[in-house]
Amino acid sequence: MSIEDAARRAEWLRREIETHNRAYYELDAPTITDAAYDALFRELQALEAGYPALAAPDSPTLRVGGRPLAQFEAVAHAVPMLSIQTETDTGSRGAKSFDARLRRELELSETAPPIEYAAELKFDGLAVSLRYEHGIFVRGATRGDGLTGENVTQNLRTVRDIPLRLQGLAPPVLEVRGEAYMRRDDLARYNEKARARGDKPLVNPRNGAAGSIRQLDPAIAGSRPLKFFAYGIGALEGWTPPATHEELLDALEAFGFPVCEYRIVAQGWQQLADFHDRMGERRAQIPFDFDGVVYKVNSLTLQNRLGFRSREPRWAVAHKYPAEEARTIVTAIEVQVGRTGALTPVAKLKPVFVGGVTVTNATLHNEDEARRKDVRVGDTVIVRRAGDVIPEIVGVVLEKRPMAQMLFCGRETFLSLKKSASGCGIRKEPIPYRKTAPRYPAFKLPASCPECDSGLVREEGGAIVRCAGGLVCPAQLKGALLHFASRRAMDIEGLGDKLVDQLIVGGYLKTPAELYALTVAMLASLPRMGEKSAENLVAAIEKSKETSLARFIFALGIRNVGESTAKDLARYFGKLAALREADAATLEKVPDVGPIVAESILDFFAEAHNREAVERLIAAGLHWKESEGQVDEPPGPLSGKVFVLTGTFPKLKRDDAKTLIENAGGKVSSAVSRKTDYLVAGEEAGSKLDKAKELGIGIIDEAGLLQLLQGD
Ligand code: IVH
Repeated sequence: MSIEDAARRAEWLRREIETHNRAYYELDAPTITDAAYDALFRELQALEAGYPALAAPDSPTLRVGGRPLAQFEAVAHAVPMLSIQTETDTGSRGAKSFDARLRRELELSETAPPIEYAAELKFDGLAVSLRYEHGIFVRGATRGDGLTGENVTQNLRTVRDIPLRLQGLAPPVLEVRGEAYMRRDDLARYNEKARARGDKPLVNPRNGAAGSIRQLDPAIAGSRPLKFFAYGIGALEGWTPPATHEELLDALEAFGFPVCEYRIVAQGWQQLADFHDRMGERRAQIPFDFDGVVYKVNSLTLQNRLGFRSREPRWAVAHKYPAEEARTIVTAIEVQVGRTGALTPVAKLKPVFVGGVTVTNATLHNEDEARRKDVRVGDTVIVRRAGDVIPEIVGVVLEKRPMAQMLFCGRETFLSLKKSASGCGIRKEPIPYRKTAPRYPAFKLPASCPECDSGLVREEGGAIVRCAGGLVCPAQLKGALLHFASRRAMDIEGLGDKLVDQLIVGGYLKTPAELYALTVAMLASLPRMGEKSAENLVAAIEKSKETSLARFIFALGIRNVGESTAKDLARYFGKLAALREADAATLEKVPDVGPIVAESILDFFAEAHNREAVERLIAAGLHWKESEGQVDEPPGPLSGKVFVLTGTFPKLKRDDAKTLIENAGGKVSSAVSRKTDYLVAGEEAGSKLDKAKELGIGIIDEAGLLQLLQGD
């Protein structure tokens, strides 16, 4: 190929590639396949390698980064990169006092018109300066100390948002200043992939941006999802900028720079304060982090008149929001047992003020999550509380992890040096040696429930680990007791939330069986309990002894066994003993019982505590009519039909409707699925109605139900 042909081809390839880049990165609408794009890209790379004379400073091949550097070169900023004064008051007074200060400096009278401002976001990334000579990106630098920064050109070239060549008529020299940042969703996607590769995830968008720009290997920077917003200019030759900051940003946009859409021109402080409030409310919805808003005097002439105080311009101020992230120290990791028995590791924190509240705890959700984040006792962590979201630990500052000299004795035995060397034990071989290791081990769930010592069950495929203790686990006791006594279970009227608390705290109730030992005298002695209500409660408890097998099974609170499954089980097995002895295969013969429900039942009866609790209930006098089991569904007008109830009905209570349906041979299930035959919708029906419509399920009202019940 002649050099002319090669030059023409290279030029065509560059334009073609840039067009596809724009479609992909800016419009999010790729115009060719990845493979076809790669082919164009490789062809251009090969041409440039074969004909060094064709190298161009704005070639898209530069976006993939060059060779790793040993260190960054220093760059002197011809126009210093200023910092910005921060308004300490995060309320509306912040805007007011800045405006008042400026009016004083400008000697404006009270009746003089309001100052015009440009307001924008204070992006939470890394400030950079981009130098363009005759429209070509020639150098990018970090802020450094404001006077001297680091040359990070190679890395900035990999940021697709940053134009390599300016659009339109470009001045001989233009330095554009702005923020390199990462979107939160891009960071999450990047981290997911990084974890899959076994790489360390980035802690947060700000560290992600700063860390990426300061990578010596541009290939690493290139692999990070960096973006850029322009917010000002530095050195300038051969171009007269417009009269206002607003128009300056418009001009930068026209040159091809991304400028953030959230910006306004404001007259006076009130409009600034409104902008601060409005953006504060939208903080969680906006896909990138910003820690405040920036107010700038809009007129560039006025900016010049105001000038600088040391390193800060008098014409600008950052009006912050309460920090959403803060550092603190993990003092302990506790394991809490919830009402359903789920074990949750919770990090106890040295109190820290973040997102407007003092945070002392942060959930680590579950064991997998705790290990993924690798949070350990003593760690310095970054805590985030955005909006009203519950506080969470976003990451560990690994450099601050407490380390200790350990004696490494065998393959897995670490002993702290503080213990005597003889603590190394009886083994002589291999010879112990010193090694630095984290002072605290990685988090692990205990082997049994921290509340009741029962065994633990990991939900299949899930990250949740539960205590199998059920009724005997104090953490689960309250929930279990309320469920046991509820209307559709043992139906004990008068055993409410407060009373159950009192009985548990008083040590009167450790298992549901102990309900049956409560006496009028004892109950009457409790605060807020009269003789009469005590008598009523004891009577209700007594009455509940005569029950049905279905109610009893439901009352046990076996996971995944709701009322309708309990009924199916009772009908199928007829006797409690038969249910208790059933294996998985037998259980799965019951209508609607799949492997998950079967396993929950097996787990429940495998736990000795649970078997004992059941025995005690029977010993306390609970009884029901047993049958031979496997009886057919009672024939009725609704035989075999599945209903879901939603909203409130004009005449029937929800429970009554349920009973009527079941007595007529129908089933009531709680969620709409393809198996649902009818949705009975009352007033204020919500998402279930939408779902039923979506699935094309028959929708009827109360009157329709009553008609069906009559066999019409
Ligand atoms: S203007 C007027 N505008 O704040 C002083 N700075 O500047 C020149 N920052 O670390 C800066 N968003 O990265 C300006 N919209 C914005 C900004 C912004 C964030 C950062 C900048 C620097 C710090 C001080």
